[in-house]
Amino acid sequence: MSDKKTQLEEIEKNVKICQKCRLCKFARNAVPGEGNINADIVFVGEAPGEVEDATGKPFVGRAGKLLESLLSEIGLKRTDVWIGNIIKHRPPENRDPFPDEIEACQSYLIMQLKIIAPKLIVTLGRFSMNHFYKEGKISRDHGQLYRTSEYNVFPVYHPAAALRNPDMAMALKKDFVKIPEVLGKIKDGSLLRKSGVFTNAGNTNNNNLQPKGQLGLGF
Ligand code: URA
Repeated sequence: MSDKKTQLEEIEKNVKICQKCRLCKFARNAVPGEGNINADIVFVGEAPGEVEDATGKPFVGRAGKLLESLLSEIGLKRTDVWIGNIIKHRPPENRDPFPDEIEACQSYLIMQLKIIAPKLIVTLGRFSMNHFYKEGKISRDHGQLYRTSEYNVFPVYHPAAALRNPDMAMALKKDFVKIPEVLGKIKDGSLLRKSGVFTNAGNTNNNNLQPKGQLGLGF
């Protein structure tokens, strides 16, 4: 059985030669993702932009600078966490990824997350959130913890959207500062001991509060 690093490197190799969708024809470099493979927190964005395409690294353009500054406000460096995307090749002109491109690419992220096994996944923007939680609506669900069958998912606005919209920038900052508390509660198990919606987090028979078995935990 190979170790985490070897398994992730194997996935990276496959991402770099991937031709499962049209995006590889336009892109200069694939962007498999990078960071601390033993991290508690993983950040998942949408797709590489221009600078990411040029360098093969995730979130190294303007949105990445904002992400780094938000991380530093909660005492983290980008090397403390793992950062990746749903889509591994840049869509032309940074257009939204098409459903068939998401479909073709998502198995890489699924495998990467299985290996890294983070305690918390912070999704950046709606495409990333919808990968984990199809019914999610970013304007409603940002800043709330969702427990899927496999992961704790905390959706926030995409940093690129926050760069264009001051209200979203404010909301992103407010949601970000909750991350240490959310992680702390996941780690010490105290989410399940609280009242209200928290209590229902442990009750898989009670779907009254939540759509389709996904559990939204108020933060
Ligand atoms: N936007 C993303 O969603 N991902 C990146 O890597 C960069 C910008």
